[in-house]
Amino acid sequence: MDNKMLLETMEKEINGVSNLNELNDLKVKYMGKKGIISELNAKIREVPNEEKKAYGEKMNELKNGFNNFFEEKKKELEQAILNEKLEKEAIDISLPATKVPMGAPNILEKIIEDIESLLMSMGYDVVDGPEVEEDRFNFELLNIPKGHPARDAQDTFYLKGDEILLRSQTSPVQARTMLEYQGEKPVRMICPGKTYRRDDDDATHSHQFMQIEGLLVDKNISLSDLKGTFDVIAKHLFGSKTETRLRPSYYQFTEPSVELDISCFKCGGSGCALCKNSGWITVAGAGMVHPNVLRNCGYDPSIWSGFAFGFGAERLAMLKYGISDIRTFYQTDLRVNQVIDRMEVQND
Ligand code: DAH
Repeated sequence: MDNKMLLETMEKEINGVSNLNELNDLKVKYMGKKGIISELNAKIREVPNEEKKAYGEKMNELKNGFNNFFEEKKKELEQAILNEKLEKEAIDISLPATKVPMGAPNILEKIIEDIESLLMSMGYDVVDGPEVEEDRFNFELLNIPKGHPARDAQDTFYLKGDEILLRSQTSPVQARTMLEYQGEKPVRMICPGKTYRRDDDDATHSHQFMQIEGLLVDKNISLSDLKGTFDVIAKHLFGSKTETRLRPSYYQFTEPSVELDISCFKCGGSGCALCKNSGWITVAGAGMVHPNVLRNCGYDPSIWSGFAFGFGAERLAMLKYGISDIRTFYQTDLRVNQVIDRMEVQND
């Protein structure tokens, strides 16, 4: 057997292939079970013992030879495939790039997160409550019994009979939290979230909107604590020159009840269109938690007292960013968030 000739033939044949299939065919031809090299290899049985070693060495030379030619060609063919692919998929870098639209934080989320982090720094917990709520939590425990006229202002959507509804306010989370604490420990919580009312949508009404509820229950809490807390929030949101005032109001779940007003940040209090020439803008409802509510929720009003407040997230955002239509928040026009984000960055 002439190794040299066979190696030369193999090399020639391997170099002559033009694709991987042909190359693999050659592998079968030489190295397959019935391949040329395999058959030669099998013949070692017929070789006299003293020649077996030399024969074996020759066989190895053939096998290694084939493998070397094979691997080299394989690499070459694979590289050619890759090159072709790269060429086909080449990116024309002279083309102008498609612009990836930049996102911006949602304005309502921003307001909520801002208030959350401020109040968390004052020891408040941020809690969640269900949007599908029971009448008991949304109204009854909050001192608004069935048939009470205070319900009229908060007509909502009923899901099942007249007991399961979409919450008309975040105030039910007050009741849920107090009941969870079982009248034993102070409460400091805020709850931001969606609320619903059966309102016809217009520039200032939306059937779905967001509130940020706050509740503090402890010993010896008075209206001045509410005023101080509100002062911190108002200055944080609207600037350090902001003045605050409490104006008498009415809510079923607080006594006394107040509206929380800030001095108009546009005119500084002298009167303009934004504050309807009053110099003041109302931003939240609040009051001292009604003894009935404390009692309903397991807190003894002779020991505990507290205050609560409720901001409208959209109202805060509309005031802060000069948005005149509440529907802006629900029309998913991303530019609104972007414009406001840019405004803020410039102001920083
Ligand atoms: N839940 C009230 C509303 O939707 C807002 C509010 C007023 C919340 C007074 C309070 C509060 O916690 O004390 O109009």
